Amino acid sequence: MNEPLVQIAMTVDGAPLSARVRPRYLLSDFLRERAGAPGVHVACGHGVCGACTIVVDGVAVRACLMLAVQADGATVQTIASLPVLEGTVTEGTGLTPLQQAFRDHHALQCGYCTPGLLVSSAKFLAAHRAPTRAQILDHLNGHLCRCSGYANIIAAIESVLQ
Ligand code: FES
Ligand code: FES
Repeated sequence: MNEPLVQIAMTVDGAPLSARVRPRYLLSDFLRERAGAPGVHVACGHGVCGACTIVVDGVAVRACLMLAVQADGATVQTIASLPVLEGTVTEGTGLTPLQQAFRDHHALQCGYCTPGLLVSSAKFLAAHRAPTRAQILDHLNGHLCRCSGYANIIAAIESVLQ
């Protein structure tokens, strides 16, 4: 039996969007397939790895754990909103300070985990202006990176504090 479609509307990276969706359509899939947000990466698909991290109404969440219908009326920010989340870009390069730091410290290899890491790190740093190493490690608990090594990610995050 076909499920009835549900009308939803939200703002994604500053652009209004409305659509009719299946009730069980994941927000991560909706953003990638219907909202032009391929930077929402899906890896584990069940809330463990952090690759799909986005911001919904100011809160960092895992897009793979939400349904699109749950974001009805919400303001959604993906990696495309990183300059807004950080409040700045680096002169000349077009990169935000966090992106530049990840580049400078070789904090990514395949880059699959990177958008989620950058989004949640921007929110983390907005809430913690002078985090301790322990707080940074606790923050990174929610993210799995299979290839770059966490030491470089920690170094990148700490470098933007200086
Ligand atoms: S894909 Fe969402 S947490 Fe892994
Ligand atoms: S850079 Fe490859 S998974 Fe993190």
